[in-house]
Amino acid sequence: MSHKIKTICCIGAGYVGGPTMAVIAKKCPHIQVMVVDINHERISRWNDHNLCNLPIYEPGLKEIIEKCRGKNLHFSTDIESNIAAADMIFISVNTPTKVKGLGAGHAIDLKWIDASARQIAKYAKGYTIIVEKSTLPVKTAETIKQILESSHQNMVIKEESKKAFSVLSNPEFLAEGSAINDLENPDRVLIGGNDNNAIASLTEIYSNWVNREKIITTDLWSSELSKLIANAFLAQRISSINSISALCESTGADINNVALAIGSDKRIGKYFLQSGPGFGGSCFRKDILNLVYICKHYGLKEVAAYWQQVIDINNWQQKRISNIIIEKLFGTISGKKIGILGFSFKANTNDTRDSPSIHICKELIEEGGCLAIYDPKVIPEQIEIDLSIKQTKSKKDSEGSWYFSRSVLDSAKDADALLIITEWDEFKKLNWEEISNAMRPPSWLFDTRGITNIYEARKNGINTWRVGN
Ligand code: NAD
Ligand code: UDX
Repeated sequence: MSHKIKTICCIGAGYVGGPTMAVIAKKCPHIQVMVVDINHERISRWNDHNLCNLPIYEPGLKEIIEKCRGKNLHFSTDIESNIAAADMIFISVNTPTKVKGLGAGHAIDLKWIDASARQIAKYAKGYTIIVEKSTLPVKTAETIKQILESSHQNMVIKEESKKAFSVLSNPEFLAEGSAINDLENPDRVLIGGNDNNAIASLTEIYSNWVNREKIITTDLWSSELSKLIANAFLAQRISSINSISALCESTGADINNVALAIGSDKRIGKYFLQSGPGFGGSCFRKDILNLVYICKHYGLKEVAAYWQQVIDINNWQQKRISNIIIEKLFGTISGKKIGILGFSFKANTNDTRDSPSIHICKELIEEGGCLAIYDPKVIPEQIEIDLSIKQTKSKKDSEGSWYFSRSVLDSAKDADALLIITEWDEFKKLNWEEISNAMRPPSWLFDTRGITNIYEARKNGINTWRVGN
């Protein structure tokens, strides 16, 4: 028998916690959804009256916030009482790659998961279902269970405050930029666990808008592992197509034609075959590194080496692009102005985590380039953090520098090259005559996403390079 869920608490108000809980609140008006975070600034932005100040930009998100916030969707820093009041708790905290200690550079840093489990162990009351929403190494549920169980042993528990927990795995498959649509119309919902009642409770929530046939239930370990593998397979396709982009450039074939030809085979499928500057975002790199780490841990070194190649090709593609730019600009970009179009890791998000722009811009700055970086959603303060270099005060070219530009035309003004890194719609229909007039000849367009009309650019006297062409 399922337990009726009336109150949900989500620990972590980030790119997953925020949109996921917003959609649950929208689809389940009978459930109170509380999203808590230790980050006060983030929570105050979730509560900001001006919906343009929400901490996350995601198409369709602000409409849901407007509709549900203050009714059955709440954002708070009061972790203690919201945990205590919840029938079900989602853990949606960050799980980045460890930067120091055992497994640094590969293993997942579980300190935020550990802290969340301890908060739950301390404050939860009665029976609570714990849902792992974060992406976790296989068998993390075991650790969470141990932390929760140890809380019983160390306490003299009064009869009325007895605690009991069930732990489920429910990984999230949303992609940024299309998160709301992905959450409202998921390909599948995956629930792993061994407590059928708890599984039934979570299934009931999703059944408010997801067809039952799309709700897959498995054991805990398969669920945790499936999330890592889904990301690894997706990233593998990108590294595969990017490796072939280089071969196309060498042979005169066109990557778009190759992608169309192979993608028309149903067994291969047409998605995730867009060649570009390499994958970015907070998930692919860290999840594959973790997969490599787990394989090594179990002595599967050939398997580890196989998946490591997906990362290596990604790094190589980014380095290859910056090398091409330097080579085309006569072997030196020292003191040359390069307009950078796009800094987020993909279009329709303000997220810059592991964005290809960071790696490519750092290389170009290192080579002495002067970058004028424009992105419609990323703020200059974020770019400063990502590049670890302050922007120059004046727009005057000074070797190895960058400044935040307010428009495409500002980036193009007196520039030797324009480099498209993010596939924002705005960059798909540029006025090449205007841009060409603004640039310093001989000017170059480097299109790493293959989204511009390079023939128009060429017609207006700009030299062009497009990935895989
Ligand atoms: P995020 O960094 O945007 O958000 C995590 C939030 O958790 C932060 O605001 C942080 O302050 C908060 N937090 C950390 N420890 C806390 C604690 N003890 N108590 C309260 N709040 C705490 O991360 P994200 O992008 O939302 O990712 C969360 C998880 O979901 C990760 O495991 C990630 O791999 C996974 N995931 C992410 C995506 C994505 O597209 N971003 C998609 C699927 C899965
Ligand atoms: C990814 C997974 O898609 C999602 O299921 C998971 O929950 C989280 O990780 P996300 O990183 O938000 O989502 O975006 P995604 O659309 O997968 O793009 C990741 C990176 O790959 C981006 O840098 C994107 O530009 C790049 N990409 C994607 C390509 O270069 N080519 C493609 O064909 C697709």
